[in-house]
Amino acid sequence: MRILLLSDIHSNLEALDACLAFAPAHDLVFNLGDVVGYGASPNEVIERSRSLGKFFVRGNHDKAAAAVIELQDFNPLAGIAALWTRNQLTPENLQWLRALPEGPEHLPEVANVQFVHGSPLDEDEYLINVQDALEPLMLSSVSLTFFGHTHIQGIFSMNGAVCNMLHPSYRTIGQAEAAEFPLKENGRYLVNPGSVGQPRDGDWRAAFAMFDSEARVVTFFRTPYNLKAAQDRILEANLPQRLATRLAAGR
Ligand SMILES: [Fe+2]
Repeated sequence: MRILLLSDIHSNLEALDACLAFAPAHDLVFNLGDVVGYGASPNEVIERSRSLGKFFVRGNHDKAAAAVIELQDFNPLAGIAALWTRNQLTPENLQWLRALPEGPEHLPEVANVQFVHGSPLDEDEYLINVQDALEPLMLSSVSLTFFGHTHIQGIFSMNGAVCNMLHPSYRTIGQAEAAEFPLKENGRYLVNPGSVGQPRDGDWRAAFAMFDSEARVVTFFRTPYNLKAAQDRILEANLPQRLATRLAAGR
């Protein structure tokens, strides 16, 4: 089965459309959460995401926009965007967002794999470095976890007692590219497809990944998108300017 992995779209319709245009053929889409927040196209992104299938876990921004959680733990930029998003959402989309499941989620067709937003142990935890990844790698009931939340594309791997962090290396800074990572049979992995709509690894291109469960290969992708259009929408919506400028820096 070929699973297209999308995460942290953050209401960026232009980035989502570019990813879908570049994505190879796949059997299903799994969305790792933060469908909304920060960007200016929440309803459009929810509707496009729902049209891609039914496999989701909720993100912290989805919870905030849907008033599942309070906003006090959010930084001011994120809080402003969450409130703006809540006011924009149609009643149906708000209801849909509110009902998104907490991870880990599983697919009956694909054994030994789970899907979460933050960590398998806590949906809101950030797995940024090897220290963060050790406990979930060791304690997870399955050997392969797909996660998002950090907006940083890459893999944590554990072979025996050694934990490593790997990031795909690309040849350009502005072209559409792919990078393959074959998984070892006995390894344990945490895989982050990166953020579609607000990358924070210094690469402005929209990020996503594909997992081929028969070949046991993860392929990472980056694609340029209509950055200017996404920025203009944010500015036209009177959202904070920083939410537009950071997209160009990938931060
Ligand atoms: Fe996010």
